[in-house]
Order: sequence, then C-alpha cells, then structure tokens
Amino acid sequence: MTAPKYHLTSYGCQMNKLDSELVETKLQQRGYSAATAEADADVVLINTCSVRQHAEDRVWSKLGKLRIRKRTEPQLVVGVIGCMAQEHKRYMLARMPHIDLIVGPSAFGDIDDTVEKARTRNRELVAQREPARTKHEVVGAGMVSVDHGISGDSIKRNVKVRPHQSQAYMSIMRGCNMPCSYCIVPTTRGDEISRPIADLVDEANRLVDDGVSEITLLGQTVNAYGRDLKGQDATLARLLRELHGIPALRRLAFITSHPNFLSPDLIDVLAELPKLSRYLHLPAQSGSNAMLKAMRRGYTVERYKKRIEQLWAKVPDMELHSDFIVGYPGETEEDFEATVALMKELRFSQSYIFKYSPRPGTLSAELVDDVCDAEKNRRNQVLLAVQEELSAERNQAVVGSTVEVLVEGESKVAGRMTGRTSQHRLIHFASTDKQLVGQYVPVTVTEALAHSCVGDLQGHDAAEGGAHDLQYDRDLDHEQDPAQVSGS
Ligand code: 5AD
Ligand code: SF4
Repeated sequence: MTAPKYHLTSYGCQMNKLDSELVETKLQQRGYSAATAEADADVVLINTCSVRQHAEDRVWSKLGKLRIRKRTEPQLVVGVIGCMAQEHKRYMLARMPHIDLIVGPSAFGDIDDTVEKARTRNRELVAQREPARTKHEVVGAGMVSVDHGISGDSIKRNVKVRPHQSQAYMSIMRGCNMPCSYCIVPTTRGDEISRPIADLVDEANRLVDDGVSEITLLGQTVNAYGRDLKGQDATLARLLRELHGIPALRRLAFITSHPNFLSPDLIDVLAELPKLSRYLHLPAQSGSNAMLKAMRRGYTVERYKKRIEQLWAKVPDMELHSDFIVGYPGETEEDFEATVALMKELRFSQSYIFKYSPRPGTLSAELVDDVCDAEKNRRNQVLLAVQEELSAERNQAVVGSTVEVLVEGESKVAGRMTGRTSQHRLIHFASTDKQLVGQYVPVTVTEALAHSCVGDLQGHDAAEGGAHDLQYDRDLDHEQDPAQVSGS
C-alpha cells in the first residue's frame, strides 16, 4: 500500500509556520508523506490565522474551493487547524460541512491520530476513546474536533524538518496574558506557558548538532518568557545567556517583544553578548497616548521612547522594528499624526502596518468601528510611505560598509544570491554559487533600496556584479519576507 499523502498550507505568523513543521513531523512519523502538489494529496490541511479578518477571508475562500473538489473526490480529507479552528469550530462546521477535522493549536500533540481517524472514517474508535475528560469530541458526521489537551510543544521535535539547513525557529513559550483590547491571540492561543530552560537548551543543542547556526526564539510576548515558571529564575535574559554558550551557534534572535518587558537586564544582555542579533521587534502600535490607553497597551509614548533611549545608550547599532494599527475606533487625525511623528522620531527600520479589523469576542469589537475604510486605507498608505523612506534611509547608512551575510538561498532574480545580516537586513549579491547557502560571507554594500540592499561579495570567487540595472534591483527589492510572530 502506498503511503497516504498530505498537503499542508500555512497562513499567518512565524509561530504558525513552526507549528506546521511540528504537525508535519507527527504525520511523517505516522507514515504519511508530503504531496508535491495539493491536487495529489489524500489529506489537505490548512493552518489558519485569526489575527485579522483578511487572514480569515483567505481561508474561507480556500475552503470554498475545496468544497467543490470534494464533490468529485468524496474520500478527500479536509482539515482546518490552528487559530481559526479554535475560534470558529461550530460556525465553521455549519458553514462548511465538508470539513473532516478541526484541531486548535493546543492539541497538535496527537494530530496524527486525529488525521488518521478522519482518513479511515473510524468514528467508532473516536467514540470509544471518549473518557470522562474527553480530548476528542465528535461534532458532526465523520468529524473529529480536538480543542484542548496537550500542547504542541510536547512533540519531540524532528530537527530535520525545517525550512533552511542553517536556520531554525524555536518556540519558547505559547499563548499571551496581555489584555490588548483588539487582539484575538489570548483567546485562540490561551494563557502563557513557557517551556523550561533545560528543554530549550536541549532542543537548541540538537538543532546545532544538525547544522543549524542561527536560531530565532519565538513567543507572542517573547521577552515575558518565564513569568509562569515560578521559582525557576527563568527569564529571557537568562535563557539567552545559556544558549549563547553553545559554541557552534553563531546568531541568536527573538521575536516578538512587548515594550513593557524590555527590562534593564535584557538590555544588558543585548549589549554584552555578541551573538545576539542586532534587531528588536518591539511593536509600538500607536504614537497617541489616547489610543494606547484605549488599546490597553499598558505604556505611554513617553515610556516607550524612554525604553528605546536606554536601549540605544547601550546598544547603538540595534535596529528597531514595529507594528502599527491605523483606524482603531475613535482614532482622530491628531492621534494618527502622533503615530507619524513617533515613526519619524524613532526612525524604525521596518514596520508592519495594519488597518484595524474588529475581531468578534475582543473588547474593542464592542466599540463602533468608526474610522471608515477609505480613511483607514489613506492612513495606511501615508504610514507605509513614511516607513519606506525611513527604511531606505537606514539602508543607505550601511552603503560602503562590509557586512556579514548568512546566505539563505538563490534570489528570484537569476544570477543573485540572498541572505541577511545580523541586523535582519536583506542583502542581494551577484553569485550563482549554491554552495554558499548556509555560509557567512562578507558583502560590501553598494546600493540601498527600500526593503533591501545590493552588494558585492568579497573574498570568495565573487561573480562580477556589473553595473546595476534599476528595474532589476527593484524586482529584487520586492522579495522581502515578513518574518513575524503575531503578537506583542
Ligand atoms: N486589527 C488590526 N491589527 C491587529 N493586530 C492584532 N490584532 C489586530 C486587529 N484586530 C496587529 C498588531 C499586532 C500584529 C501581529 O497584528 O499590530 O502586533
Ligand atoms: Fe498579546 Fe501581542 Fe495580542 Fe497584545 S497584541 S494581546 S501582547 S499577542
């Protein structure tokens, strides 16, 4: 019998991508293999995101297409996993009865069982396994829903499953305990649960033994790590120190941080440890105190700026990344201008800008969504334009210098390779040498674009860069990858 094939599409943040890796590990251990195309798969899984309406709309549209496919292929198994599964379980089944399984993020630990049951339509087995504190719940014809139980992190990670040989993400905590009025994450991902330091050091060692040299730690509020591990002296600062000691590890980053937990201790560690990446994703969300208060962010603009001053006093080359929401209920032109001013004052290198989208069940969903869509669009465009200018300016500052680039792969434009610096700056350079992937190479930056830089490879058998063609460079510049964790 040939192995059943799965196809998994992931939407949303980096945390979701890592969850998808864990789910793939489980399925492969169970004898499933990855289909090369969705059309060849026996099981189609969609790992979903609920953070904004737009992300959900894409999933609904995909599910609509799968419904049509299922008319001619009734044996096809369609599964929805992740945040939307957690949030809309019953509504989803009512709207899309062709879905066979729904699994929330807290229950990926035995997802292989769930998938297998759905595939073999073994409802009896599911029913039999229903003890007093049930983990499985039969909610419809042939459908299995799992929404509580063990955390995905209890899966023994297969270090082989990861997007790049030399880079890996590691989830150090799950969930979020912050009260941000607009955010669905605490509902879909639950309370903060931090993994013990010893487990993380063990996983990092296994990754490094397998060839990883850059690890990015993930958490919705990654710098609040350890709050729930009472009496263990577990903080992000301490964890970073421990991981920093792994000799073959060269770069260590963490996303996403919350301004309230940028402690002096963490700043000291950033200043002290050379392997720590030189960028901090610290969402400000707004530059208006009235909006920050309404959003329940727990800080003022002044306090945010003060923290950044303290950070830059000790780590001047730290690049700052942010998220901003425009069009939150009640946001006036003045509030918006305050956000523009904050952006310009702190000269962020990169920002993700979101139009406010009410999420049912959150506090702000009770408010009138009174900034009309046209105005949200306008504010979005204005902020994007300001950010583009700032990003280009920050990139311009490194022109002429030689930076260390971890090569990630071939660029989409032929004849160029692409990688990132420790400041998370995307660099393209002329080369066709695929052997460079995973290596750290020196590149002299010759040109700054809005989202990336172009440079010449030094030392190695550098290919001729030649004169840069502007259109060509603009094409390169659109290859940015928004690595991010929904949160903070
Ligand atoms: N509407 C718009 N943006 C949101 N974000 C979170 N919830 C919402 C929402 N309801 C943004 C925040 C967060 C990022 C991951 O998504 O800026 O930092
Ligand atoms: Fe938590 Fe970040 Fe959402 Fe706030 S925005 S609730 S900190 S995930």
